[in-house]
Amino acid sequence: MTNSGLRSTQWFGATGRAGMGHRSWMRSQGFTPEVFDGRPVIGIATTWSELAPCNVHLHRVAESVKRGVWQAGGFPLEFPAMALGETLLRPTAMLYRNLLAMEAEELMRANPLDGVVLLSGCDKTTPGLLMAAASVDLPAVMVTGGPMLNGKYQGTDVGSGTAVWRFEEDLVAGRMTQEECVFAEGCMARSNGHCMTMGTASTMASMAEALGMQLPYSATWPAVDARRYETAQRAGQVIVGLVRDDLRPSAIMTRAAFENAIRVNAAIGGSTNAVIHLLAIAGRLGVPLALDDFDMLARDIPTLVNLQPSGQYLMEDFCYAGGLPAVMRELAESGLLHADAITVTGSAVGANVADAPCWNREVIKTMAEPFQPAGTGTAVLRGNLAPVGAVIKQSASSPHLLKHRGRALVFDSPTDYYAVSNDPDLDVDEDTVLVIRYCGPRGYPGMPEVSNVALPKKLLLRGVRDMVRICDGRMSGTAYGTVVLHVSPEAAAGGPLALVRTGDWVTLDVPARALTLEVGDDELAARRAQWQPPAAHASRGWTYLYTEHVLQADAGADLDFLVGASGHPVPKDSH
Ligand code: FES
Repeated sequence: MTNSGLRSTQWFGATGRAGMGHRSWMRSQGFTPEVFDGRPVIGIATTWSELAPCNVHLHRVAESVKRGVWQAGGFPLEFPAMALGETLLRPTAMLYRNLLAMEAEELMRANPLDGVVLLSGCDKTTPGLLMAAASVDLPAVMVTGGPMLNGKYQGTDVGSGTAVWRFEEDLVAGRMTQEECVFAEGCMARSNGHCMTMGTASTMASMAEALGMQLPYSATWPAVDARRYETAQRAGQVIVGLVRDDLRPSAIMTRAAFENAIRVNAAIGGSTNAVIHLLAIAGRLGVPLALDDFDMLARDIPTLVNLQPSGQYLMEDFCYAGGLPAVMRELAESGLLHADAITVTGSAVGANVADAPCWNREVIKTMAEPFQPAGTGTAVLRGNLAPVGAVIKQSASSPHLLKHRGRALVFDSPTDYYAVSNDPDLDVDEDTVLVIRYCGPRGYPGMPEVSNVALPKKLLLRGVRDMVRICDGRMSGTAYGTVVLHVSPEAAAGGPLALVRTGDWVTLDVPARALTLEVGDDELAARRAQWQPPAAHASRGWTYLYTEHVLQADAGADLDFLVGASGHPVPKDSH
């Protein structure tokens, strides 16, 4: 054994009873004594679980990472971190993102690790692990699990999530039978991987790559593509080098890297959820980042990628067209990327993407001829209905609704709305503004993706496909519609959204970035005097801790006591 100066040598390089305990029990797994010779110990944080189907193949990805770590002279050790599956967890996986981040942070710090490879996939697992890595600030590389193959139904490509909303509307409107829907389920999700639209998982995988935290092309290789596993093996090699160079997340995820990520998000037509997650990750690093940055930095960026839900194609097509590096090259050549931002490759991002080819200009457009013009990305709204801010994804909205005035129809939960949404006598028309509230971080709790409620049946039957909806919750990255999201402060925190009444006039003016409730200040003050906060959701456990400490959406919905970093000092010995 040598004392390499690594954290792990304080466990495995120790003499006496403590060192014997640390090594002996590890040898129960059949490792030879050479693994304790002072080589870097690399943790592989895997969010594998059969309850998180998007991540179910990560145990195989981990095997590839291990090959790379061994090749480079490291000692890989896989460990589980909370698997958050978007499709099963109730009330929402978002309630547990911070718990994953907290769990992974503590495991990384408490164990004899010198570096980590982060294996994620489904929506919350990517930001949760990045938040953890930021707070520990050990060298880290992310490997996302990759998207599913394109869904195929009745001769057409169908995108996960995005098709679900359409199938549901078609079912309600009588254009599709229940049997056809059940058959379509199997056609849509036909391989390992996360959603293959530009939903939140694909967006956050792209954000990890744009931030410099995963290898080029890593976001887009399909989950079942051999190159996904090749990239994972490469990541195993890379992390050992990062440990030797002591290149840590705080040196990679700088303000410049976040600006790159925000611009890339606009160029790919990414999910609004990236706003919340990037704010939360930045908060862990002390990088100054605000809601307005997302509007300001994205205004000049056209949408280049023609992917559902804003466009036509899917992640498999994006991969074959050239993947994220081809998009980043377009931005770099227009001077819209901080080309000198360092990445886990050890090289600057500009060098990584300088020669990236594009093989299909139908999927990845150019800056000169974009898919959608600049100014169609995520807009940040303010007004007396959202004093701290709200967001809207313009590319997923109907252009004719971006300036709209209508009367509010207010519901205190999606459940209340759906109880009457099929009523043919519901007092609603296409000009109505649907307000769904108490769906924020504290209110639901966990800020679920319920904001894009399905349209009332009577409107669907008339062929109406969109209407303005306003909510303090989130929307799936796979969804579309003119939906104002993340209204802050949320209703449960006493935000003005709690004071809206059915029949009030509401004006949405996206070009002016305004969201206005046309009710006078005196009347609002009178309503506020009558307002009662909702009852607490829990008196114990995680939900209690979460609702007591969660920040609003504009601050990334992190817990107040988790903001910032604690680094990776070696804790006191255990025996
Ligand atoms: Fe997991 Fe969409 S449900 S990525």
